[in-house]
Amino acid sequence: MSRAFRSCSDFRAHRAGNAGNAEFFSAPPASQTALSLVHWYTEANQTRVPPVVELIQASKTYSSNGSVVYAVREADLALEPGSFTAIVGRSGCGKSTLLNLAGAVDLPTSGEVRIGEQSTCRMNDRDLSRLRRTRIGFVFQFFNLLPTLTVLENVAVPLWLDRKNMAGDLEQRVASLLDLVGLQAKSRHFPHQLSGGEMQRVAIARALVHEPALVIADEPTGNLDSGNAAVVLGLLERINREMGRTVLMATHSREAAEFASRVLAMRDGRPVNS
Ligand SMILES: Nc1ncnc2c1ncn2[C@@H]1O[C@H](COP(=O)(O)OP(=O)(O)OP(=O)(O)O)[C@@H](O)[C@H]1O
Ligand SMILES: [Mg+2]
Repeated sequence: MSRAFRSCSDFRAHRAGNAGNAEFFSAPPASQTALSLVHWYTEANQTRVPPVVELIQASKTYSSNGSVVYAVREADLALEPGSFTAIVGRSGCGKSTLLNLAGAVDLPTSGEVRIGEQSTCRMNDRDLSRLRRTRIGFVFQFFNLLPTLTVLENVAVPLWLDRKNMAGDLEQRVASLLDLVGLQAKSRHFPHQLSGGEMQRVAIARALVHEPALVIADEPTGNLDSGNAAVVLGLLERINREMGRTVLMATHSREAAEFASRVLAMRDGRPVNS
């Protein structure tokens, strides 16, 4: 049974004997529907379906000119398996910070973030890095593709980082993801030969290649025209509905947020029903 700690330093003080366990939730099987994913979690956990991610009174502060600034303030949030949640709000209200906490990119200054019931504060850097690499897929506003790699190689990067080779079914997996995002024909192209919409579709394929339980998208349409934005949002919707992946998206756009099944607005540093 885990207990709530006030802060990461509090966790670390209690961490002896607990470090190094990042095997807290196994990846859901590929091609799961949202409903069967819930069943899968239920079976795996016998009695209850834990949230994929849970923030409990989580805060993130920065020091600025001697005063403390709250980017996220005592936020509570639970992402149920198979859910699609959009976070909306004005620039600077803390959307990216919230996503970074949920994706174990950042640790809370106080409160707790649990991913698969394991507190991120209890993990060492190696386990956090492995968690991000293997269990979470990230999609960014500016795509973040590697310019010297082809489309196919960009999608395969997470597998290489995880020291998996490209043989057999992995090669097939990359090919089927490129098919999903409609870019099979451009697998040998380089990023500079693609449109913005195509680059974002490559980034989505890359985010899925290690079959993550959770996909985090920070302003995925922020750099796209409305036509390409609709294609990217449709893909995120399919990833959620047909593949059963949990999706957490930040966006300025109310239209983009409509693709989600739950829309939360950041108010005073915390997500609330909008
Ligand atoms: N490294 C940092 N140091 C100091 N302040 C920071 C840092 N990162 C973020 N902030 C502050 O935290 C607040 C929230 O930032 P965040 O990037 O989460 O906002 P956002 O809602 O994602 O904004 P945008 O819509 O422009 O992307 C802002 O006031 C920002 O200035
Ligand atoms: Mg942001």
